[in-house]
Amino acid sequence: MLDDDGIKCECLVTDEGNGILEIKNIATIPDYQGKGYEKAMIDFISIKYRGQYSILQVGIGDSTSTIPFCEKCGFVRSHSIKNFFTDNYKLPIYDEHGLQLVDMIYLQKIT
Ligand SMILES: CC(C)(COP(=O)(O)OP(=O)(O)OC[C@H]1O[C@@H](n2cnc3c(N)ncnc32)[C@H](O)[C@@H]1OP(=O)(O)O)[C@@H](O)C(=O)NCCC(=O)NCCS
Repeated sequence: MLDDDGIKCECLVTDEGNGILEIKNIATIPDYQGKGYEKAMIDFISIKYRGQYSILQVGIGDSTSTIPFCEKCGFVRSHSIKNFFTDNYKLPIYDEHGLQLVDMIYLQKIT
Protein backbone atom coordinates (compact mmCIF):
# COMPACT_ATOMS: atom_id res chain seq x y z
CA MET A 1 0.00 0.00 0.00
CA LEU A 2 1.14 3.54 -0.68
CA ASP A 3 0.43 5.85 2.26
CA ASP A 4 0.61 9.59 1.54
CA ASP A 5 -1.37 11.19 4.37
CA GLY A 6 -3.71 8.18 4.08
CA ILE A 7 -3.72 5.16 1.78
CA LYS A 8 -3.91 6.15 -1.89
CA CYS A 9 -3.25 2.92 -3.80
CA GLU A 10 -2.38 -0.73 -3.32
CA CYS A 11 -1.26 -3.92 -5.04
CA LEU A 12 -0.19 -7.48 -4.24
CA VAL A 13 3.23 -8.83 -5.13
CA THR A 14 3.84 -12.57 -5.55
CA ASP A 15 6.82 -14.75 -6.41
CA GLU A 16 5.67 -16.81 -9.41
CA GLY A 17 8.87 -18.85 -9.68
CA ASN A 18 11.31 -18.94 -12.62
CA GLY A 19 12.53 -15.44 -11.75
CA ILE A 20 9.11 -13.83 -12.22
CA LEU A 21 7.73 -11.28 -9.75
CA GLU A 22 4.04 -10.60 -10.32
CA ILE A 23 2.07 -7.49 -9.42
CA LYS A 24 -1.67 -8.12 -9.00
CA ASN A 25 -4.81 -6.24 -8.01
CA ILE A 26 -3.47 -2.76 -8.78
CA ALA A 27 -5.96 -0.09 -7.75
CA THR A 28 -5.89 3.58 -6.79
CA ILE A 29 -8.72 5.19 -4.84
CA PRO A 30 -10.88 6.91 -7.51
CA ASP A 31 -10.44 10.45 -6.13
CA TYR A 32 -6.64 10.05 -6.33
CA GLN A 33 -6.31 8.45 -9.78
CA GLY A 34 -4.16 10.22 -12.36
CA LYS A 35 -1.87 11.76 -9.74
CA GLY A 36 1.06 9.38 -10.22
CA TYR A 37 0.45 7.17 -7.17
CA GLU A 38 0.28 3.75 -8.86
CA LYS A 39 3.24 4.49 -11.10
CA ALA A 40 5.22 5.57 -8.03
CA MET A 41 4.38 2.27 -6.35
CA ILE A 42 5.38 0.21 -9.41
CA ASP A 43 8.65 2.17 -9.67
CA PHE A 44 9.25 1.46 -5.96
CA ILE A 45 8.65 -2.28 -6.47
CA SER A 46 10.98 -2.31 -9.51
CA ILE A 47 13.78 -0.75 -7.48
CA LYS A 48 13.18 -2.77 -4.30
CA TYR A 49 13.36 -6.14 -6.08
CA ARG A 50 16.00 -5.23 -8.68
CA GLY A 51 18.55 -8.04 -9.01
CA GLN A 52 16.27 -10.62 -7.35
CA TYR A 53 13.97 -11.28 -10.34
CA SER A 54 14.55 -11.23 -14.07
CA ILE A 55 10.97 -10.40 -15.09
CA LEU A 56 8.38 -8.07 -13.57
CA GLN A 57 4.88 -9.17 -14.59
CA VAL A 58 1.44 -7.63 -14.15
CA GLY A 59 -1.67 -9.81 -14.20
CA ILE A 60 -4.88 -7.85 -14.82
CA GLY A 61 -8.38 -8.16 -16.15
CA ASP A 62 -8.92 -7.14 -19.76
CA SER A 63 -9.99 -3.65 -18.73
CA THR A 64 -9.84 -0.58 -20.93
CA SER A 65 -8.02 1.55 -18.33
CA THR A 66 -5.50 -0.76 -16.73
CA ILE A 67 -3.79 -2.08 -19.88
CA PRO A 68 -2.93 1.43 -21.23
CA PHE A 69 -1.69 2.33 -17.74
CA CYS A 70 0.61 -0.73 -17.63
CA GLU A 71 1.89 0.02 -21.14
CA LYS A 72 2.61 3.57 -19.99
CA CYS A 73 4.69 2.05 -17.17
CA GLY A 74 6.79 0.12 -19.72
CA PHE A 75 5.07 -3.28 -19.63
CA VAL A 76 4.47 -5.19 -22.87
CA ARG A 77 1.68 -7.71 -23.45
CA SER A 78 2.96 -11.24 -22.94
CA HIS A 79 0.16 -13.81 -22.78
CA SER A 80 -3.38 -14.33 -21.49
CA ILE A 81 -5.54 -16.97 -19.81
CA LYS A 82 -8.89 -17.29 -21.50
CA ASN A 83 -11.98 -17.14 -19.24
CA PHE A 84 -9.85 -16.79 -16.09
CA PHE A 85 -12.37 -14.59 -14.27
CA THR A 86 -15.47 -16.48 -15.37
CA ASP A 87 -13.91 -19.87 -14.58
CA ASN A 88 -12.49 -18.96 -11.16
CA TYR A 89 -15.05 -16.63 -9.57
CA LYS A 90 -18.65 -17.50 -8.79
CA LEU A 91 -19.88 -13.95 -9.32
CA PRO A 92 -19.13 -11.79 -12.37
CA ILE A 93 -16.51 -9.05 -11.88
CA TYR A 94 -16.84 -5.71 -13.69
CA ASP A 95 -14.34 -2.95 -14.34
CA GLU A 96 -15.02 0.70 -13.56
CA HIS A 97 -16.74 1.10 -16.97
CA GLY A 98 -19.16 -1.75 -16.27
CA LEU A 99 -17.44 -4.19 -18.61
CA GLN A 100 -17.24 -7.77 -17.35
CA LEU A 101 -13.73 -9.11 -16.84
CA VAL A 102 -13.28 -12.45 -18.66
CA ASP A 103 -9.65 -13.13 -19.64
CA MET A 104 -6.56 -12.56 -17.50
CA ILE A 105 -3.98 -10.50 -19.39
CA TYR A 106 -0.29 -10.62 -18.54
CA LEU A 107 2.18 -7.88 -19.35
CA GLN A 108 5.89 -8.10 -18.61
CA LYS A 109 9.07 -6.11 -18.54
CA ILE A 110 12.66 -7.12 -17.98
CA THR A 111 13.97 -5.83 -14.65
C1 LIG B 1 -5.26 1.83 -13.56
C2 LIG B 1 -4.94 2.51 -12.23
C3 LIG B 1 -4.41 1.48 -11.25
C4 LIG B 1 -3.86 3.59 -12.49
O1 LIG B 1 -3.50 4.18 -11.23
P1 LIG B 1 -3.22 5.74 -11.09
O2 LIG B 1 -2.66 5.98 -9.73
O3 LIG B 1 -4.42 6.50 -11.48
O4 LIG B 1 -2.10 5.95 -12.22
P2 LIG B 1 -0.95 7.04 -12.26
O5 LIG B 1 -1.52 8.36 -11.87
O6 LIG B 1 0.23 6.54 -11.46
O7 LIG B 1 -0.59 7.07 -13.81
C5 LIG B 1 0.77 7.00 -14.26
C6 LIG B 1 0.79 7.30 -15.74
O8 LIG B 1 -0.09 6.42 -16.44
C7 LIG B 1 -1.07 7.18 -17.15
N1 LIG B 1 -2.36 6.51 -17.06
C8 LIG B 1 -3.09 6.23 -15.96
N2 LIG B 1 -4.25 5.63 -16.31
C9 LIG B 1 -4.23 5.57 -17.67
C10 LIG B 1 -5.14 5.10 -18.65
N3 LIG B 1 -6.31 4.57 -18.31
N4 LIG B 1 -4.81 5.19 -19.95
C11 LIG B 1 -3.63 5.74 -20.34
N5 LIG B 1 -2.70 6.22 -19.46
C12 LIG B 1 -3.02 6.12 -18.15
C13 LIG B 1 -1.11 8.53 -16.44
O9 LIG B 1 -1.58 9.55 -17.30
C14 LIG B 1 0.30 8.73 -16.05
O10 LIG B 1 1.05 9.20 -17.16
P3 LIG B 1 2.14 10.39 -17.01
O11 LIG B 1 3.24 9.79 -16.15
O12 LIG B 1 2.57 10.71 -18.40
O13 LIG B 1 1.44 11.53 -16.32
C15 LIG B 1 -6.18 3.25 -11.66
O14 LIG B 1 -6.73 4.09 -12.65
C16 LIG B 1 -7.25 2.32 -11.11
O15 LIG B 1 -7.21 2.00 -9.93
N6 LIG B 1 -8.20 1.91 -11.95
C17 LIG B 1 -9.32 1.09 -11.52
C18 LIG B 1 -8.93 -0.18 -10.78
C19 LIG B 1 -8.83 -1.40 -11.61
O16 LIG B 1 -9.57 -1.58 -12.56
N7 LIG B 1 -7.87 -2.28 -11.23
C20 LIG B 1 -7.61 -3.49 -11.95
C21 LIG B 1 -7.75 -4.72 -11.09
S1 LIG B 1 -7.44 -6.15 -12.13
